[in-house]
Amino acid sequence: MKIAILGSGDVGLTLAAGFQQRGHQVMIGTRHTQKEGLQQWLAEHAAILAGTYSETAAFGDIVVLCTGWTGTKSAIELAGIWNFKKKIVIDVTNPLDGQGPDTEGRLHLATGHAKSGGEQVQRWLQESHVVKALNTIGNQSMVEPSFTEGTPAMFIAGNDDLAKLAVTDILGQLGWKDVIDTGDIAMSRHLEAMAVVWCAIGFRKGSWGHAFALLRK
Ligand SMILES: NC(=O)c1ccc[n+]([C@@H]2O[C@H](COP(=O)([O-])OP(=O)(O)OC[C@H]3O[C@@H](n4cnc5c(N)ncnc54)[C@H](OP(=O)(O)O)[C@@H]3O)[C@@H](O)[C@H]2O)c1
Repeated sequence: MKIAILGSGDVGLTLAAGFQQRGHQVMIGTRHTQKEGLQQWLAEHAAILAGTYSETAAFGDIVVLCTGWTGTKSAIELAGIWNFKKKIVIDVTNPLDGQGPDTEGRLHLATGHAKSGGEQVQRWLQESHVVKALNTIGNQSMVEPSFTEGTPAMFIAGNDDLAKLAVTDILGQLGWKDVIDTGDIAMSRHLEAMAVVWCAIGFRKGSWGHAFALLRK
């Protein structure tokens, strides 16, 4: 499958390498293909392509949004809305307000809790199937998550059941054995709030090797 990764930060590069190692064709979209760190990384990952947001979104059968929240609308516009049409869009973003943690280690969502980034992305991309996923884990554990205390869960949300099945399969390829469909894209409000909890635990403990799990009787 051809996978378009929009964004060349830690998340974009981690997922690009993970998908390529599993046999997918991968392209990374960025405004700055020539930036030094990226050129070095691409030299070490020769099978992975890089291009503009537009070239990359056009390339992908599936598009993965890995942009900082404040740049997400701009990245989608640069990519061209038509290049997302009828495609599955995996939305990894968290709509953080960019102010950093407060004294309790809480990051804050620019959308508040009665709206969400996932819903906003679905509104921007009305002819695409947006699935919120991978936003409740740090990039270090996005591929082959491994925890001594059990099996981590990945929670997803989206309006299209077939798209969620496809994303469940893709997450399985990345090593996620417990993928939980939480409902329609409005559930992003709660999954994005879970990311705030995940980060607060990290800031309070000073360590980042934790994940959510769902325990069943
Ligand atoms: N870091 C994590 O562990 C983690 C975990 C879960 C979810 N997330 C979420 O995943 C997303 C990516 O996180 P990240 O840490 O990899 O990177 P980031 O530093 O938040 O974002 C990097 C990417 O955003 C793009 N970007 C920023 N402003 C832009 C603009 N105005 N127009 C177009 N593109 C713009 C950059 O594009 P260029 O390449 O063109 O510079 C860059 O590729 C974020 O929404 C984050 O909240 C992060």
